[in-house]
Amino acid sequence: MENKTIESPMNNEGQYSYAQQSSYQKGGVESVNSLIHNQIRQKLNVRKLLASSSSNGPHLFSIADLGCSIGPNTFIAVQNIVEAVESKCKVEGFITSEEKQENVEFQVFFNDHVTNDFNTLFKSLPVERKYYAVGNPGTFHCRLFPKASMHFVYSSYSLHWLSKVPPEVLDPRSPAWNKGKIFYGRKEVEEAYFGQYMKDIDSFLKARSEELVSGGFMALLVPSIPDGVDSSRCAVNALFHMLESALVDMAKMGLVDEAKVDGFNLPGYNTSPEKLKAAIDKNGCFAVELVEQLGRPMPPATRPSVQRFTSGIRAVIQGLLVESFGGEIMDELFDQYTQKVLDSGIFEDDSKYHPFVDLFILLSKL
Ligand SMILES: C[S@@+](CC[C@H](N)C(=O)[O-])C[C@H]1O[C@@H](n2cnc3c(N)ncnc32)[C@H](O)[C@@H]1O
Repeated sequence: MENKTIESPMNNEGQYSYAQQSSYQKGGVESVNSLIHNQIRQKLNVRKLLASSSSNGPHLFSIADLGCSIGPNTFIAVQNIVEAVESKCKVEGFITSEEKQENVEFQVFFNDHVTNDFNTLFKSLPVERKYYAVGNPGTFHCRLFPKASMHFVYSSYSLHWLSKVPPEVLDPRSPAWNKGKIFYGRKEVEEAYFGQYMKDIDSFLKARSEELVSGGFMALLVPSIPDGVDSSRCAVNALFHMLESALVDMAKMGLVDEAKVDGFNLPGYNTSPEKLKAAIDKNGCFAVELVEQLGRPMPPATRPSVQRFTSGIRAVIQGLLVESFGGEIMDELFDQYTQKVLDSGIFEDDSKYHPFVDLFILLSKL
């Protein structure tokens, strides 16, 4: 595969669209709502944040969701932030009564790749929202907003996407060449993926540190590998190895071009708390306010539930797979994949894999 930068991997339409198949992510978004609410109540200094915004008209509070996709989870997340900030504004005296809510106005920037289906997103905007909605297309690995213009940046289930497949894994002369695989497992390959992740997270943090006002918050929620646990023993990675195995089987059966499998790699990396904190320390512009590892319930090990789960994965990566392998093989690929997941016993109580852990981290701009 030509090593180009990544466009939106998501599936935007139909039965396997992200809007229909994102209940896992929805559970995570909802489970951090109260953490975000409490941290805003306890720590966000709204008076200081808004001191520099308009002194004549209403104060403007700016929020961005990076990697918002097509909904609906983004609406749940931003509504929670708006409500939490609004109640903090009441405590700090910016909003004195229900009639005077206009003392503080909210604008929310919905960011994703330019290829994201923003029309679908905006068609489903909640009618009752208390914010002005703005689309912000482009990669979050670069600057997206003017300097010191953001008060709260949020991102869930997006920051594990790399800006590109690490070049070494596509290079037959490199020890990290990932022939016959689509995800990292071997040490050399994992190191190449980690190297790309560190470059990407570095650019991400640098851009956000320029865009956030001093005292502004950034909340990140990502799938993760617990510190000290071998990534291949974690369900979150093992599930991609099972997809890889289904694809390799199809290549052996002549249903997929083997060379295409050699040239395809998933551009994602699941970080650990230690690695993410190391990147934040290196950047040096943020204080860590809160780190929580959220154990996530594994789906029941029944066929319908596994089927729902693999459909969720399909919604997230089908765009990338279709680009390389065409749409015709998708049903067969995901049928075989579902069977492999069932056979692996990964969701059984006595599974040998480490269950899902999502990582929530809240930062404040120094
Ligand atoms: C799994 S969805 C998460 C959607 C939503 N945040 C949620 O929690 O349900 C990941 C989204 O991140 C977007 N994304 C990945 N890399 C990105 C990048 N570099 N810049 C902007 N968006 C990106 C993808 O296009 C996709 O829409």
